[in-house]
Amino acid sequence: MEKSNKICSIRKSNRRNTKQSSRLVWNVNTKKGKNAMGDKSFIEVQFPVSKISKESYKERKANLGQTLTGLGKWWGRKPLILVRATILGLLLPATDNPVKDREIYLKLLTMDEDGLLKRKTKSLSTKDIYRLLDNTEKEKYFVIDDKGTPKYIRGIKSEEKQELQKTCFNRLSYDEKIKLCCRPEELDNVLSKEEWDDINNYLGTNADSLQSLVNELGIKKFGHTPIVGDCFAGGGSIPFEAARMGCEVYASDLNPIACLLTWADLNILSKSDEEIDKLREFQQKVYDEVDRQIQEWGIETNEEGDRAISYLYCNEAVCPECGYLVPLSPTWIIGKGTKTIAVLKDNGNNGYDIEIKQKVTSNQVKECEKTATIKSGKMICPHCKTETAISVIRNDRVDSEGNKIYGIRKWSQNEFMNKSDDALRERLYCIRYIKKEIDNKGKVKEKRYYKAPSKLDNEREKKVIDLLNEYFEDGIYNGYIPDMIIEKGEETTRLYRERGWKYWHQLFNPRQLLIHGLINKKINDLAQNKSEYVLGILGLNKCADWDSKLGIWDSSKANENSKSVFINQALNPLYNYSGRGILNLYNSWMYNINNKKIKVNVNEIKPCDARMIDSTCDLWITDPPYADAVNYHELSEFFLSWDKNKIDEIFKGWYSDSKRILAVKGKDEEFSNSMIDIYSNLIKNTTEYGFQVVMFTHQNVNVWAQLALILWKSGLQVTAAWNVATETDSGGLKDSGNYVKGTVLLVLRKQNSDETVYLDELYPEIEDEVKLQIDTMRDLDDKEDPNFTDADYLLAAYAASLKILTSYKNIEDIDVQYELSKSDGESPIVDIINDAVKIAFDYLTPNGFDSYTWKTLLPEERFYIKGLDTEKNNVYKLSAYQELGRGFGVNEYSDMMANTKANKARLKTASEFAMKYTNDNTKFGHSILRNILIALYKSTKEEDATKGKAWLRNEVNDYWNERSKIIEILDYIATLEYIENMKHWEKDAKSAKILVELVRNDGV
Ligand SMILES: C[S@@+](CC[C@H](N)C(=O)[O-])C[C@H]1O[C@@H](n2cnc3c(N)ncnc32)[C@H](O)[C@@H]1O
Ligand SMILES: [Zn+2]
Repeated sequence: MEKSNKICSIRKSNRRNTKQSSRLVWNVNTKKGKNAMGDKSFIEVQFPVSKISKESYKERKANLGQTLTGLGKWWGRKPLILVRATILGLLLPATDNPVKDREIYLKLLTMDEDGLLKRKTKSLSTKDIYRLLDNTEKEKYFVIDDKGTPKYIRGIKSEEKQELQKTCFNRLSYDEKIKLCCRPEELDNVLSKEEWDDINNYLGTNADSLQSLVNELGIKKFGHTPIVGDCFAGGGSIPFEAARMGCEVYASDLNPIACLLTWADLNILSKSDEEIDKLREFQQKVYDEVDRQIQEWGIETNEEGDRAISYLYCNEAVCPECGYLVPLSPTWIIGKGTKTIAVLKDNGNNGYDIEIKQKVTSNQVKECEKTATIKSGKMICPHCKTETAISVIRNDRVDSEGNKIYGIRKWSQNEFMNKSDDALRERLYCIRYIKKEIDNKGKVKEKRYYKAPSKLDNEREKKVIDLLNEYFEDGIYNGYIPDMIIEKGEETTRLYRERGWKYWHQLFNPRQLLIHGLINKKINDLAQNKSEYVLGILGLNKCADWDSKLGIWDSSKANENSKSVFINQALNPLYNYSGRGILNLYNSWMYNINNKKIKVNVNEIKPCDARMIDSTCDLWITDPPYADAVNYHELSEFFLSWDKNKIDEIFKGWYSDSKRILAVKGKDEEFSNSMIDIYSNLIKNTTEYGFQVVMFTHQNVNVWAQLALILWKSGLQVTAAWNVATETDSGGLKDSGNYVKGTVLLVLRKQNSDETVYLDELYPEIEDEVKLQIDTMRDLDDKEDPNFTDADYLLAAYAASLKILTSYKNIEDIDVQYELSKSDGESPIVDIINDAVKIAFDYLTPNGFDSYTWKTLLPEERFYIKGLDTEKNNVYKLSAYQELGRGFGVNEYSDMMANTKANKARLKTASEFAMKYTNDNTKFGHSILRNILIALYKSTKEEDATKGKAWLRNEVNDYWNERSKIIEILDYIATLEYIENMKHWEKDAKSAKILVELVRNDGV
């Protein structure tokens, strides 16, 4: 009784406040705690997600040209432009003139029309210019030659050509423009005095560079230069970009390798060209010394004086059926460009010689594909043709108590190669040499060739082993090659089971250990300061990445070289692999340093568990390891095993192990608890008016609900959320999850409320908030370059529910701890989010569709019509359909799709459907929409709309009462007739136009 009274009274007060409270939640700081400026940040009101997605994608695609990636491998790096856009969005205020806010914001990012022109580095081709001009302009500037090609008229001035470049460039879409541009970060302060005047006038500042503006905005907001913190720094994108923009930075990561990379970003990439030249000299000196020693040993040069660049190794195993020793490889093709193959020849001694044949025919290469001796985990014996599972060869078995025993012999600590009676043993089978010749013009010519190892090559291989043994025994390599044990884990246990490797150095063969150890020793001998040491360690890591037993041999035409270990996020032992000679390691060692000569203001960089941080920041921008994604703590030990001693030596106060036990991992309660600890701690370390952005890769509603609870329990309140999307081409509908790439930015503030509500009271508030948010986004949308897709509106609904939920101190019926401890993923929060999504989808009536009729449609029908609407907007992303499926609760829609490829996804037309899937068991099969599609199919096929009308009359239950719905749908389909990108709909849409009139006039 008491409780229901309470509900009543809160309900009343709520109802009174609904409209207002949703605004207040949106405008959270005016209600609960004012910030220094008393209002919201730009990013809490708007964010140009479409442009930022495109720029982020462009940056990711730049490969080696990216600013930070050259320094070393880290997984899940965030694009710098995303970070820049975020920080600027946090610092700029949102005023009551959102259009001008946006203009200023884009100007500062050089993402407005002028900025793009400044970034234009490539010219439009004459052909494109011609295409983009109107007829009068074409006539004015062009003539058509006899071959039909447009040519500039004679005597056209170069200024005129420049002007045409500009005119035509401005006519391109954003996507087309940025293809001709450099990235925003590649330009330094390009805004003119007038532009700065405009910015300063508007913001009340006095800046002449991004850095000085950031400083002034920081002073206005926090009373000092803004301090940006990142406690999950990883490869260092966030602290680097923050520093470059002029913020002070605090950076830490649990993992010392991440800290090393971040340290290098901030301390090495900020150096001047002269300082970089000095570091380059150091690198060259180490390389020369290592090369000299290798030549002196004579281990990479053959009797003709040619240098080895690649060494190909394979495993061998005894066939249990016939006793032959079989070399194992999933392919014996060595080079598709040079047409080189390996051929197994019976050696008359229960084994095989491996011959290397170069310049064979294309046919022989093709035939070679059939000679693989390992396929789907089975050895295929070339002698007796028996297929044997590798697990049998390794002697994996189950003991009498049902425990699985992994049979492969485990290596002891001082071992670095197989024993001759091991189940799997390694063998060198091919070497690629480079011959230098001087031609008759005195020019040096390089010729590469492959050969099977000769007797002398094998002797050199033996010498490598002897040298390594000697160095091991004499302690010369103490501290220079890894001695760390491989702790078991998700990724690492595989190394024990499949190869018996227990120590990290066992992932490298003797040749690799000898050379990398030598490099390490030379770094130590020659480095004179911290930067040289760090540069050396990172180079050593690169060599490890590109030269280990986990390096796949890539036989493709463009490569014919080994690949990096981390082409994926796993540690997989291989049957055949390739190592590199020192010549071929040159680029790994002398890696790219894209220095930016920036002034950095670093407070601190150190390895630290995020739970233990005690530095105070204004803005925490974090990108946490998300629920089960990458096993950073395990993968990084591949590098850490080499770097450990040096880190201890040069970074006082750092630790040098991976602290696996403290890593945020898993996805259930363990994950939630560590995240709550961390975010609660960050709040304690935020200045009074500070706030946060959490970046994460968005997945399903359950994950969202979990995150909401985590942040809420930590004492944070969501004030906005934006989805920055990029999509890759690979993958299809089936393996969902892998190809949809999107990052959500959640903007958060300290939760200051002490109000409590009941769950059911939240619904009207959420409903209002969802609508308000959608309206706001629609109002702000850029008509020429639409910013938001349905996926964004859907996300806005997620975010709106999160905003409302997290704006209260307590929700009476929810026990957060209990909800987080459940593993089934079901929770009232999930229901709330799903409800919010439904509200959004009800609200997002397709343009021109009657909103009442819309509500009466089945989810499947709405899915289909919304899908058409999506296509109308020229969106062909598969993820858009996945979001729709989720939004409408339609799980099975593959039958409706004509294409499920990532950027080509679209629905079937009426004619493509023909009579398929009608009256099947699905609701869609029986629906009015499905009958309308059949009616259209028949009308189009027979070029007679009365056939369609007859179908509708006979098949639609209650035809007369459903007529208005039928008309509404047909009217909608008729609008597809002249859509440029929907030519496949033209005929059916035309039928719809005729059919709708027949239905409209039926019985009249
Ligand atoms: C998604 S990554 C960050 C990537 C980074 N934003 C970038 O652009 O390269 C997450 C990071 O969290 C770190 N991490 C995991 N558990 C941690 C903990 N307990 N404390 C601090 N960092 C942790 C991992 O080492 C990893 O580098
Ligand atoms: Zn056999």
